Amino acid sequence: MTAPTLQAAAPAETADPAAFDLTDPQTFDDNDPHEMWRPLRAHHPVFWHAPRDGKPGFWVLTKYDDIMAAYRDNKRYTSERGNVLSTLLLGEDSAAGKMLAVTDGPRHREIRNLMMKSFSPRVLAPVVENVQQLTDRLIQEAVEEGEVDFVTAVADRIPIHTIGDLMGIPAGDREQLVDWNAQTLSRYSADDGEEVSLMARNEIILYISGLMAERRRNPGEDVLSTLATATIDGEPLTEEEIIYNAYSLILGGDESSRATASGIVHAFSQYGDQWRRLKNAEVTLESATEEVMRWTTPTMHFGRHALVDIPIRDHVVRAGEIVTLWNSSANFDEDAFADPYTFDLGRTPNKHVSFGHGPHFCLGAYLGRVHMISMLESLRTRVSGIELLAPPTRLFSNFANGHATLKVRLTPEHTA
Ligand code: HEM
Repeated sequence: MTAPTLQAAAPAETADPAAFDLTDPQTFDDNDPHEMWRPLRAHHPVFWHAPRDGKPGFWVLTKYDDIMAAYRDNKRYTSERGNVLSTLLLGEDSAAGKMLAVTDGPRHREIRNLMMKSFSPRVLAPVVENVQQLTDRLIQEAVEEGEVDFVTAVADRIPIHTIGDLMGIPAGDREQLVDWNAQTLSRYSADDGEEVSLMARNEIILYISGLMAERRRNPGEDVLSTLATATIDGEPLTEEEIIYNAYSLILGGDESSRATASGIVHAFSQYGDQWRRLKNAEVTLESATEEVMRWTTPTMHFGRHALVDIPIRDHVVRAGEIVTLWNSSANFDEDAFADPYTFDLGRTPNKHVSFGHGPHFCLGAYLGRVHMISMLESLRTRVSGIELLAPPTRLFSNFANGHATLKVRLTPEHTA
């Protein structure tokens, strides 16, 4: 299982939506994402993914503007019946109406406002400092080792500590959480069954409920304590709201940041010119971060259910139907990005959809960016060259665009 290259391929002449089963993680192993999406965008910007293997059909949006419009619209669309294919296809999400990402309406706003307080740059300052120190230490150790699997040596080990710091998770429990989490949305390999994901999800929820009970007795400064002790209109959050929202931080904060970290290193191993631009400080860390976010697109899709009939281009989505929004296509839409297949760290403007858009815009975007900037800064100072030692393997997923393994040689920067 090798990662499809991110290099632009020659444009395909035709596109057959039926050729790709977007519910099957294998599709994303077998196809170059650009070769797959480019002709679909050109010939079938909106299409109906027919029901297969007992799974319902769904709409597929490939164009940036259509996807942004759907993200913005939580009146005609709902997230309460799932927001990723695995739950959308079931038609329900057990956390609906409790967990931010799958809650709409006034309750979404109330819980989001509450949680946003814990995510302001001021409150996050100590967490950010820890991220920078940890990233720099892990990169330094990886450089000293020389040849490493960047996923296990570095990418796996950063975001969970951030979430751990945010939620006050004891250091000794963090590794186990990373492992469960990796199994929830993307399985390690095609051999693991759906039940592996389900069991991992239950383990995480059980773990958090234990921690929550403890925080109620002994509240601290962490987000979990805030959730466990906060009130909205004088009423505390329900236990389920607390547990699910804490869970969503582990889920949202861990996997996508890990995916981006390995994506950065992979991209630089392929694009020496951009690596040199970073090294020579020809681009700002901020613009480099945005381009890495676009280029790696860590979460390939999200989705909604239509609440009413919604016309999109030549089609009408009927009330009750599933609509999927493919970030991995939108971020390379020729109508939204100049020269989209060029990895250009200096790209401006760069309005990628990697953090979503509208009312459900990623709550952790600031933190996600901090991870990326820290990673770029440490790589730039401590590493002189990045060399791929073996074809990387992808996470087996139709959601997370990350690596299961990424063997690289990092050459030290002697001036560091
Ligand atoms: C929502 C991506 C990091 C927590 C989202 C959404 C996207 C996204 C696309 C929108 C989902 C939708 O519209 O249905 C990413 C990426 C990240 C990242 C690419 C890293 C590179 C984080 C971090 C945290 C986090 C670090 C928390 C510590 C959340 C939460 C939501 C969310 C709680 C739900 C917000 C709401 O529904 O109001 N994320 N995320 N994410 N993200 Fe992130």
